[in-house]
Amino acid sequence: MKRHEFLRELHKVSANRNYLEIGVNDGRSLALSRVPSIAIDPAFKVVTEIRCDVHLVKATSDDFFARPNPIGHLKGGRHPMRNLRRGRSPIGYWRRTTLDLSFIDGMHLFEYALRDFMNVEKHSDWSSVIVLDDMLPRNIDEAARDRHTGAWTGDVYKVAEILGRYRPDLVTVFVDTQPTGQLVVFGADPDNRVLDDKYDEIMAEFDVPDPQKVPEAILERVQAVPPKALVEAPFWGPLAKARNLGVSRSRGWEPLRTALEKATGTR
Ligand SMILES: C[S@@+](CC[C@H](N)C(=O)[O-])C[C@H]1O[C@@H](n2cnc3c(N)ncnc32)[C@H](O)[C@@H]1O
Repeated sequence: MKRHEFLRELHKVSANRNYLEIGVNDGRSLALSRVPSIAIDPAFKVVTEIRCDVHLVKATSDDFFARPNPIGHLKGGRHPMRNLRRGRSPIGYWRRTTLDLSFIDGMHLFEYALRDFMNVEKHSDWSSVIVLDDMLPRNIDEAARDRHTGAWTGDVYKVAEILGRYRPDLVTVFVDTQPTGQLVVFGADPDNRVLDDKYDEIMAEFDVPDPQKVPEAILERVQAVPPKALVEAPFWGPLAKARNLGVSRSRGWEPLRTALEKATGTR
């Protein structure tokens, strides 16, 4: 399955109510969205018909997230929550807007993709779906920090190892899409500050000159699940239902984690 086909399926199965995209280019991935969206790129040149209500931002993702209330465009998604406890008003309180589906496909250097993940996570929740593109380079040249190939993943594949080590609370799933694979992250925790605290330590270890030592397991896609297996897994319906009902992390995340691990064989 090609990466955009997989993304199209994710839009369907996640039943996302909003969408955020970092890295727009000519708009082909953004064209898949039908919900209120935010799309960020300092140099987009959209030539594809866009079919959603989009806030298209000409800025780097770092500058975008430094703005006050960056996802304010999605305020329509600020859902009045039904307070179901007896004796309370039916509109009990307001829930902050969170991102349902995000696609990180901007600058292909790991520190940019990592910061993109950190920023996106601060606006996400346990039920959010965060996709990082180009996570399975096919060779060492393609994974170079200093681009010298046509197709270029850069070294964003390192983000998977970083999340595995520093954020074992997340579930990360490599997906065997063409051409260069994706990583889907579940279980976002907007209050977790481990990556902020360890950022300098991470830079010191992972920012190394070319040629990159891409692990064999990445090049061979050892852990990658077939895209069809992920989009056809049974957890999507319950995930969307729990998210739309505003089920809390303490009630929602463990059942989802168990279902994810069963469906994908990941831990
Ligand atoms: C691979 S393209 C995106 C392709 C698009 N998502 C798709 O699938 O059709 C990467 C884009 O990231 C943009 N980009 C580069 N640096 C960026 C940054 N710091 N923040 C956001 N976008 C950036 C580039 O301008 C380029 O258009």
